[in-house]
Amino acid sequence: MPRQLRKAVIPAAGLGTRFLPATKAVPKEMMPLVDKPAIQYVVEEAAAAGITDVLIVTGRSKDAIEDHFDRSPELEEALLAVGKDAEAAQVKAIHDLVQIHYVRQGAPRGLGHAVGMARAHVGDEPFVVMLPDDLMHPNAGILTGMIEAHNRNQSAVLALKRVAGREISMYGVAAAKALSDTVVEVSDLVEKPSPEDAPSDLGVMGRYILTPGIFDAIERTETGRGGEIQLTDAIKALIGEETVLGYIIGSGRFDTGNKLDFLIASVTFALERDDLGPELLEFLRGIVSGR
Ligand code: G1P
Repeated sequence: MPRQLRKAVIPAAGLGTRFLPATKAVPKEMMPLVDKPAIQYVVEEAAAAGITDVLIVTGRSKDAIEDHFDRSPELEEALLAVGKDAEAAQVKAIHDLVQIHYVRQGAPRGLGHAVGMARAHVGDEPFVVMLPDDLMHPNAGILTGMIEAHNRNQSAVLALKRVAGREISMYGVAAAKALSDTVVEVSDLVEKPSPEDAPSDLGVMGRYILTPGIFDAIERTETGRGGEIQLTDAIKALIGEETVLGYIIGSGRFDTGNKLDFLIASVTFALERDDLGPELLEFLRGIVSGR
């Protein structure tokens, strides 16, 4: 019986330079899509996939994240006092999603370094890494599918997506051999190659299931692209020691660090809501038809 994956690590120490000026004083992970901060969608995705323990790697100026997942008795009481019971329950539920822990990265030394900060907390068991800029639609079942692939043979699994054209150089890129329609075996990885040097069109999409061997691999990893310790390089080192799978995803992934994709995600989520969808759709139809 495979051991149930329990723990997820969310690296959230990045500066959010792609979304200035909004992220000057507000952590980028707290940018709301409709009425919910991006990082709450990610924690909900973890909980829906059966994760019960989340470690968030933060840094200076990220206190709002801790406040968001904390209890707020004063707010709950104030809401209850005016009969807003549903809102009070909604506020309390945020805290009850999973157990959350925090560690500070200290200095921005890269994604590999941030994941390395989780070693003492994760210990000797496989775990999930979820990049909060990558937002997955809850109906896409991406993390659940990855966990199923992991449970079959206990190996590391990376979310991969086919990326067209020059955009491939925004991602870690995998060379891989197909095992089924959705699962591949990864044989090589390159962090943000030029389009000419990309080994394939399969980009890594911010969800990883890793084995504890990654921590030694990170410690052995030298500074890479951008002068940072890259998680991609550490996983590449792991490929020599154990099987690393890829799980190919289709639609349902948004890059919320990208302004256009952030807007597309916001509109997508709003259109699905009973309280907003119909009127928003009417408004959008009006724009399209030039009314
Ligand atoms: C990071 C990783 C990259 C991955 C990407 C997914 O890059 O380094 O390998 O493909 O996330 O979003 P970032 O976008 O943080 O620069």
